[in-house]
Amino acid sequence: MAEPDSNSPQSVPRHIAIIMDGNGRWAKANGYPRHQGHRAGVKSTRAVVEAAAERGIKALTLFAFSSENWSRPSDEVSSLMSLFFEVLQREVDALHENRIQVRFVGARDELSSRLQKRLQAAEELTADNDGMQLVLAVAYGGRWDIVQATRKLAERVEAGQLSAGDIDEHRLAAELSLAGMPAPDLLIRTGGERRISNFLLWDMAYSELYFTDRLWPDFNADDLDLALEFFAGRERRFGQTGDQVANRAEVTAGD
Ligand code: IPE
Ligand code: IPE
Ligand code: MG
Repeated sequence: MAEPDSNSPQSVPRHIAIIMDGNGRWAKANGYPRHQGHRAGVKSTRAVVEAAAERGIKALTLFAFSSENWSRPSDEVSSLMSLFFEVLQREVDALHENRIQVRFVGARDELSSRLQKRLQAAEELTADNDGMQLVLAVAYGGRWDIVQATRKLAERVEAGQLSAGDIDEHRLAAELSLAGMPAPDLLIRTGGERRISNFLLWDMAYSELYFTDRLWPDFNADDLDLALEFFAGRERRFGQTGDQVANRAEVTAGD
């Protein structure tokens, strides 16, 4: 079950979600084919996972491949799929050694069976780790997520286990891919676009949004720190007034 949005003040996000965008433009700017941009992006991913864990971030969700990315040219799709397969193989032991718990969210049945098996093996290997939770969104779409959650609830209604009137935000959230995790406090999108591109639509209702022009292959730990600085400067109100939030902060500080 996704925890309700917390309105206790915090300067470090518990959960960061990242739209890792700009690989293709990075490749073009450097005179490489697009797939080299994706390869270069893996280095940033590794650096950011390490830096996030070092900074005490509890959960990191990375958008690696969207529902809509299936409509890219087939050679780009297949090179991305091969890259996921190769990188998982190479990185999973190091992730495990760093006690990182890896999970995948997305339409797994759309992936090749060998990739599905590898994803599952990585999840199983790291399932009991107590370090940062790393969620990789592959073949993921926010709309897909809401639809699959709705379908699960509908099946329970059909089976007579649930009545339609009992469906509420809590029950729907419990069927979403990120159920059980705090909602992302901070969304980072690299690559200059200021849009959500069908990422975590439900979960980002109250996320702070940070957009940077930096292309993903150039994004590093210093850039992450800039995003964290931005986050620390936000006042999260969750619909309340600024005074209410300030009073609450005083009460919390006096506890
Ligand atoms: C993000 O980089 C990676 C994926 C979507 C898989 P892009 O490939 O979208 O890079 P740009 O936006 O074309 O520069
Ligand atoms: C979003 O980037 C998806 C990922 C980073 C995986 P896109 O490059 O697909 O987004 P649009 O098409 O520019 O909105
Ligand atoms: Mg893009």
